[in-house]
Amino acid sequence: MNIVLGVSGSIAAYRAADLARELMRQGHTIRACLTDAAQQFVTPTLFETLTGNPCLIDAFDEPETGRMAHIDWARQADLILVAPATANTINKLAAGIGDDMLTTLVLAATCPLVVAPAMNPQMYANEITQRSLKTLSARAVAIVEPQEGDVACGEHGQGKLAPNSQIVDTVQAVLASSRLLAGKRVVITSGPTQEPIDEVRFLSNRSSGKMGSAIARAALLMGAEVTIVSGPVQIAYPLQAKVVRVGDAVQMLEATINESAGADIVIGAAAVADYRPADPVAGKMRRGKDNITLTLVPNPDIIAQVARSYPSACVVGFAAEPTSDLSVAMEKLVRKGLFAIAANDVSAPGTGFDAEDNDIALIRRDVAPVMSGRRSKLACALWLLDNLAR
Ligand SMILES: Cc1cc2nc3c(=O)[nH]c(=O)nc-3n(C[C@H](O)[C@H](O)[C@H](O)COP(=O)(O)O)c2cc1C
Repeated sequence: MNIVLGVSGSIAAYRAADLARELMRQGHTIRACLTDAAQQFVTPTLFETLTGNPCLIDAFDEPETGRMAHIDWARQADLILVAPATANTINKLAAGIGDDMLTTLVLAATCPLVVAPAMNPQMYANEITQRSLKTLSARAVAIVEPQEGDVACGEHGQGKLAPNSQIVDTVQAVLASSRLLAGKRVVITSGPTQEPIDEVRFLSNRSSGKMGSAIARAALLMGAEVTIVSGPVQIAYPLQAKVVRVGDAVQMLEATINESAGADIVIGAAAVADYRPADPVAGKMRRGKDNITLTLVPNPDIIAQVARSYPSACVVGFAAEPTSDLSVAMEKLVRKGLFAIAANDVSAPGTGFDAEDNDIALIRRDVAPVMSGRRSKLACALWLLDNLAR
């Protein structure tokens, strides 16, 4: 595997040389990228000699003429490891700053990122550093926690770069997880549906598409080919996913059935309206004095139809229930003929519709339910796919 090793300006930078050697011993190709501050501690020559590859140090370095290295290396990387990661670099990564080669390269990459912090305990405990680490974790960056001990500045506390063996183990685990769905096709339905009342009004719901987008990102991180069938949403989906846009449930059914042919996993994260107006009005309904009655007819059960049409696929539904009682979701699992159901309690504060976090229970037949616990939607998605893939 191609690993970019980012080294930033910590006293622990010397340890990155051994890390490079250990990862090479495990069969990986290493390309190093040093920040300006890192070069106060170690030299590009050291890494070029060890790795046999050029070492990037400046945002405008171009080892191959005419090829922008930050894009080229980002595309070719299977994983980026930043070790040691300074407080400065961590805070820049969390904020999306790209003012040197290393941070620009990370911004351009879609592969998994592993960050191993090393710093003075006060810098580690600093509220901003902690917030940045949380932000990175929520984006599925693997953080190799620093250890507690005596640090170079003479203080005692948490901030020592984790042992190299722990960093290498994390890299191997992240790489293994990045291949769990290699060669698999994953189809995800996402967002709400809009059921027309007339040509300007519709019935819909509060689904944002964030969970569907998170599952798509997670599946891509795990090596899958991803298609999203999405109702109308504001959010942007990952660029590497194929996105099929639909409006109402009938269109979503047709697109999902088409796209699911040959799929290995189909996940229904869309909030499909259960009913639609029986006779949408042509043009715009006019205001009148009398009450009106809207007759609703049931919509197709998309995920159940996918399960019936493709019995060999792993078809997973979402059950957004205003309760933590799992019996409703269990009944749905059986009635719809699904492989699994991810149940989430949309009445719990901070999770569910349009929230940043989720908390799901994965229910399968003949297996005790497992709970994700409250996590970012991306972390939930990785947890869900990891459970399904294994
Ligand atoms: C001797 C020395 C050791 C340092 N060690 C660390 C360290 O372990 N961790 C850290 O976050 N910053 C450390 N710093 C501060 C960083 O080098 C400084 O914040 C720098 O701007 C980081 O730049 P970079 O993130 O681009 O590498 C150290 C500074 C000096 C002078």
